Amino acid sequence: MAKAYSWLEKSLETIEKAGWYRTVKTIGNIEPPFIELEGLNVINFASNDYLGLAADSRLKVAAIKAIEQYGTGATGSRLLTGHRQLHSNLEKSIAQIKGSQDALVFSSGYLANLGTIAALVNNRDLILSDQYNHSSLKNGAKLSQASLQEYPHNDYQTLEKLLKEQRALYRRCLIISDGVFSMDGDLGNLPQLITLAQNFDTMLLIDDAHASGVLGQTGAGSLEHWGISSGEIIQTGTFSKALGSLGGYVAGSTILIDYLRNRAASWIYTTGLSPADTAAALEALVILKTQPQLIQKIQANINYFAELLGTRAQSAIFPILLKDPQQASQLANNLLKNGIFAPAIRPPTVPTSRLRISLMAKHNKEHLDYLYEFLSRYT
Ligand SMILES: Cc1ncc(COP(=O)(O)O)c(C=O)c1O
Repeated sequence: MAKAYSWLEKSLETIEKAGWYRTVKTIGNIEPPFIELEGLNVINFASNDYLGLAADSRLKVAAIKAIEQYGTGATGSRLLTGHRQLHSNLEKSIAQIKGSQDALVFSSGYLANLGTIAALVNNRDLILSDQYNHSSLKNGAKLSQASLQEYPHNDYQTLEKLLKEQRALYRRCLIISDGVFSMDGDLGNLPQLITLAQNFDTMLLIDDAHASGVLGQTGAGSLEHWGISSGEIIQTGTFSKALGSLGGYVAGSTILIDYLRNRAASWIYTTGLSPADTAAALEALVILKTQPQLIQKIQANINYFAELLGTRAQSAIFPILLKDPQQASQLANNLLKNGIFAPAIRPPTVPTSRLRISLMAKHNKEHLDYLYEFLSRYT
């Protein structure tokens, strides 16, 4: 290897020594909650497909129909090449579920967060961000060039202190928080965040990637869970988790969405979401409305599993905290040998190594009991 690239090998060695080395497993047949993983049929506790819609025949049919009608690619940026009726139908649909005036669909949730944050604030402004926020929020904040202050996870006293000290020094201010934290499964406290945002004349962005389709009576997400109407809150999220497709969105006021159409670089300068993904996401939203049993089932599973673990039911994500990366990998391997797929999450993704268990509506009590039995045996 040429000298200029020799550091790569050394870097990988260091990663491996720390127990942080990652590889990708190949999955075969998917029949939620089962997947074929490197030849084994295992119960899947590693998926964000919370409602089991990614393999649903109704989504497949919708995607195939869209391909037949519109082709496979969106062919260019929606501003330049125009968009399909499907795109605006999906925007209307997601805005309706989120209780917002309008919405904008991006090619992924990551791009929705990057583009929105970087469009809303710049180097004259301040971002206050929960320490456990998703990478897309953190990188959106960096990209914006605003002054960035992280507050300790869900510590709203410190957040208030920072607002008191610093809000007046900046033009605009934006608070960003996950609605459901992706590695810890706990919730941002929206009523407290809203009060602070209002008291300090600050914008508030909530990333509902893991809440949509899971929280709230109709699966509308965090705001519904907390009994809050959308007001001027900026809600972002993804179609790639409970909604079984791909793509991201921002929901908010008409004026916000109009502004983002003109200013969000990760929407303007990228190819629109493919017709198949758009149609599958639309179909998932129809199912959310017409089959509330799915939402009831995921919520019942969350309550049941929390009861087994003796913890508070919050979301479909349950972290099992472990001593070190080696213990996490070992436990994940032991579970796999027993037909359970639950991934080890290690630094630098999280500060404390863990297993990340995610539940699906497709699990039944026997699956959850089986997992619990192994967890109690090995931890
Ligand atoms: C909290 C959160 N926000 C945003 C994203 C990005 O969504 P997408 O996978 O659609 O890019 C993810 C997921 O990976 C996430 O966990």
